[in-house]
Amino acid sequence: MPMPIVNVTGLWKNFGEVSAVEDLSFVVEQGQVCGLLGPNGAGKSTTLRVLMGLERPSRGTAELFGVSVQPGCGELIRVGAMVEQAAFVPHLSGMLNLRLWWEALGGHLRDADLDTALGIADLGDAINRKVRTYSQGMKQRLGFARLLLARPELLVLDEPTNGLDPGEIRDIRELIGRLTREGATVLLSSHHLSEVEQTCSHLVVMNHGKLVSSGTVAQLVGSTGSVYVEVDDRERARTVLSALPSVRNLHLQGDGLVVDLHDGRRSDLSVALMTAGLRLETIAPAQRLEDAFLELLEGPARDLTPSETPVAVDATEAQ
Ligand SMILES: Nc1ncnc2c1ncn2[C@@H]1O[C@H](COP(=O)(O)OP(=O)(O)O)[C@@H](O)[C@H]1O
Ligand SMILES: [Mg+2]
Repeated sequence: MPMPIVNVTGLWKNFGEVSAVEDLSFVVEQGQVCGLLGPNGAGKSTTLRVLMGLERPSRGTAELFGVSVQPGCGELIRVGAMVEQAAFVPHLSGMLNLRLWWEALGGHLRDADLDTALGIADLGDAINRKVRTYSQGMKQRLGFARLLLARPELLVLDEPTNGLDPGEIRDIRELIGRLTREGATVLLSSHHLSEVEQTCSHLVVMNHGKLVSSGTVAQLVGSTGSVYVEVDDRERARTVLSALPSVRNLHLQGDGLVVDLHDGRRSDLSVALMTAGLRLETIAPAQRLEDAFLELLEGPARDLTPSETPVAVDATEAQ
């Protein structure tokens, strides 16, 4: 197993009485675009700040490239971070801002990866305009250009689309896509499921400082779908359904069964059950716990427990 790029183990961060992060563990492997997803106050920024050596853990460890993070530790040079609002000198051009920042770090701009940085940020001629004429999205892209100058192996981005309009959000999403194709590993935070779903390969979901779940976006948000079924003989239904090729997984829930499908044709299930002579009482879309939680982050709370909200069999749906 290759060494993870980010390795957080049993991390706690307390601010007085407040536990911003409680026993959080996750890893980010090389090449992943990992989204730290959670509502406001979940502890995302605190986690990223600990990873960047800006806060000390109260307990547990945060490692980058296999080394425990300390303020100013050498591994941080390999990381490009945007965990605070990117600040620029407004009356200077984007290009001059990049140059001054790079020189302040002791580098000469020709050693910087300027072409890649400018190419990915895609500011075009605007790079020579004064930063005060930039939109929020352009400033964000200049921020990306700045952190790309040092050829970072890992990007740590705290809510990179916050305060941007939908067009600008799409631009940032494309920008992160270009970075990923160049082989970068990315850890970003967000409180929007729809956004991380489109940008990330992996998710770490947290709430109230704690880990809720983690895995690939496909595992957590699953496009293949699950179905909740109630029949007169659950054990026989289990046998019948487990034999179907489209059934990936199956477990008991409430009075029924939750069936995970590979390529969601609900009608396969009802046909198989009825052919086996079983009486189908309920068949309805089901969602796993993780999905339910993710939706709760996004919209108004609603009851997602199928067993508590049985749906009558609808003949057209079932077929
Ligand atoms: N420096 C701090 N001092 C006191 N409380 C803090 C500090 N930073 C964060 N918190 C608290 O920790 C919790 C998590 O905050 P934060 O990590 O900013 O969450 P998120 O980024 O997910 O919105 C919140 O309750 C917040 O008020
Ligand atoms: Mg935050």
